[in-house]
Amino acid sequence: MQITIIDHPLVKHKLSLMREADSSTYKFRTLTKELARLMAYEASRDFPIETISIQGWEGNQIEGIQIKGKTVTVVPILRAGLGMLDGVLDLIPTAKISMVGLQRDEDTLEPVPFFEKLVKDIDERPALILDPMLATGGSMVATIDMMKKHGCKNIKALVLVATPEGVKAVNDAHPDVKIFTAALDSHLNEQGYIIPGLGDAGDKIFGTK
Ligand code: PRP
Ligand code: URA
Repeated sequence: MQITIIDHPLVKHKLSLMREADSSTYKFRTLTKELARLMAYEASRDFPIETISIQGWEGNQIEGIQIKGKTVTVVPILRAGLGMLDGVLDLIPTAKISMVGLQRDEDTLEPVPFFEKLVKDIDERPALILDPMLATGGSMVATIDMMKKHGCKNIKALVLVATPEGVKAVNDAHPDVKIFTAALDSHLNEQGYIIPGLGDAGDKIFGTK
């Protein structure tokens, strides 16, 4: 199984707070954003860099470093992925935003697409897909399919909680895509919810439960 589980005390602490049954909308939304920020830090570790010459405070030319190539596009999966967007933009404020709308059918658990607006030059940019939950993996696989259809080649997926089933589905369909998660949970229940999981992340972020 190809997955990076972020091993950091702050990540574990914040995710545990999100698992509490009585977490308020404000608390859950804030923690989602804070975790997304920490995950973006880890997922950007291997961004390519280049050396540049900059004028330092004394007026001399000194060596600087900048991220090489076109800025990343961040791809929140509507709706719950929106909860992670601001946290990632805190670290990568110049990112371009592509949006993908998918609603999981509650009976079949199949993702039903309802919106797609990708940046035009997605084939030239690295992409970070955001979704708090990787359950069956259907929504993530469909999103990656859609992005690859438009030529996107360098894709990472950032999720807060993943299941072995979901990771396998993404690994099998898209072995080149790196998945980052705050936790790898036990399994899916009969209704397709992650156990122990977080419950319905979208409802908790938006207060619609
Ligand atoms: C949730 C979640 C993922 C998807 C995961 O979204 O945010 O997008 O389910 O399930 P899967 O791995 O089995 O596809 P949902 O469709 O419930 O919509 P929401 O974001 O509006 O809550
Ligand atoms: N979507 C959620 O929001 N939670 C789950 O446990 C599974 C899918």
